[in-house]
Amino acid sequence: MSTVKEKIELLHKKDAEANLGGGADAITKQHERGKLSARERLQLLFDNGYYQEFNKLVENSGRKISSIAGRKMPGDGMVTACGPINGRIAYVASQDFTIMGGSLGEMHAWKMSEAMLKSLKNGCPFIAINDSGGARIQEAIFSLRGYGEAFYHNTALSGIVPQISIIAGPCAGGAAYSPALMDFIIMVKNTGKLFITGPAVIKGVTGEVVSDEELGGAMAHATKSGNIHFVAENDNHAIEITKQLLSYLPQNNTETTPSYGDGSIDIIEYPDLNTIIPDDPKEPYNMLDVINKIVDPGSVLEVKQFWATNILTCFARMNGETIGIIANQPCVKAGCLDIDASDKASEHIRFCNAFDIPIVTFVDVPGFLPGVQQEHGGIIRHGAKMLFSYSASTVPKITVVIRKAYGGAYLAMCAKSLGADRTAAWPTAEIAVMGSEGAVAVLNAKELKEASDPAARKKELLKEYEDKWQTPYPAAEYGLIDAVIEPVKTREYISVCLQTLKNKREVRPAKKHGLIPM
Ligand code: HXC
Repeated sequence: MSTVKEKIELLHKKDAEANLGGGADAITKQHERGKLSARERLQLLFDNGYYQEFNKLVENSGRKISSIAGRKMPGDGMVTACGPINGRIAYVASQDFTIMGGSLGEMHAWKMSEAMLKSLKNGCPFIAINDSGGARIQEAIFSLRGYGEAFYHNTALSGIVPQISIIAGPCAGGAAYSPALMDFIIMVKNTGKLFITGPAVIKGVTGEVVSDEELGGAMAHATKSGNIHFVAENDNHAIEITKQLLSYLPQNNTETTPSYGDGSIDIIEYPDLNTIIPDDPKEPYNMLDVINKIVDPGSVLEVKQFWATNILTCFARMNGETIGIIANQPCVKAGCLDIDASDKASEHIRFCNAFDIPIVTFVDVPGFLPGVQQEHGGIIRHGAKMLFSYSASTVPKITVVIRKAYGGAYLAMCAKSLGADRTAAWPTAEIAVMGSEGAVAVLNAKELKEASDPAARKKELLKEYEDKWQTPYPAAEYGLIDAVIEPVKTREYISVCLQTLKNKREVRPAKKHGLIPM
């Protein structure tokens, strides 16, 4: 019979063993790969490095069909914990690469699912730190069940608590679908790798030769696939981004976002907003400069900064309160909406609506991008996602038309008829079915053909059209917009809108769910 002292010593021994994961040498190897260990990541993430671990002493399940039954595997390669991040609790599952390459076995998966269920029950964000060789080959079918359960729980959490995935190592095969089911993916450059089939399999099947970084590195996903939301330089940076992102988000779908204001409106006017739009309507400008002169200084956090850059999706603050922003970017593809831009915007709108974040939309859109590739790629289906997302959103929606607002793309950028609660236009706004060149070509083709001086007549017709339609006033006269505002007054206008829409309640008939075009 052991003494109490011996029993306590045994506990300390087990705890120390668990803390070491795959052992000191394996941790050194992890550092040499440019990565932190699973627990070092948690220490950085939680306030003062403090967290409460659960299921720490879980071991490998030792299924008799597995060739690794009986092998010592502290925590089964998974560290699960909760603790405060900027004073608010989050639940985290951090894969331990020092144990069998962080591969996912039965108990590893069970621990992850437990952490998810705890985050759901307690209404706290769930964060997964991925660094894994995927399904643990020796535990085959149990690994597959584990992934299935992770996907199921990711889906159960969706729209209830924010879910953030950090890709800090390999994340390949079916494993990539758990991050894909979460709300945000933050990926570390060089060490993070995300793909369904790696370079070797691709070479064997299609003959294509590609490096793992080119195929599934952070910049490939940030610029080409659009699968990820943020790029981090290293593990520390990924954790900084996670904390910054959480600072904009509520704990769950029934709570409000964190407030950094005192409820009053802080009026800041940048006089150069009045001159930021070039006199030539074809000349581009940077919409980020406009946004930065309207929201709280330094508060913009761009989401998917490097993909579909013809549209901007951001979080920001107004008077210390979180807002979501969708804005056309006139210096890329003239701010046209295309397939990727529609998907990017729709995702952001849906997230903001699910978590009660007011949406502010800044419009300068000449239309949907014309082209065979766009049509055959399904721009109708993708563009419809934006119409659906805005129409289905019940959060406060404020739209400011900065310059061009043409045709269907004007509607897709949250026009009043799509349920915008407040709509304003700058005096530079052009709200019309199409631009003057296109309109004159359609309406006056016959007249121009017969004109004695077609060029001079066309110039006159263009001017007539522009004077009549390329202004905000016809829309204002018929109540299609609520107000025409001086650019410098935009912050004040939006601030008042946000305050007066704070108690917005929009009740719609109950249904199981709508059918967003996919
Ligand atoms: C068991 C694994 C493993 C796995 C790695 N290890 N992946 N063990 N199952 N899936 C082990 C290695 O054998 C090694 O053990 C240790 O982890 C570290 O791996 P290394 O290869 O030394 O590390 P590194 O060079 O950094 O390479 C990491 C890696 C590579 C790129 C992840 O290990 C790799 O390619 N692994 C296999 C990936 C894979 O094919 N996974 C299955 C995917 S299918 P020792 O004992 O030597 O230290 C899948 C289906 C899911 O996931 C479907 C869900 C729906």
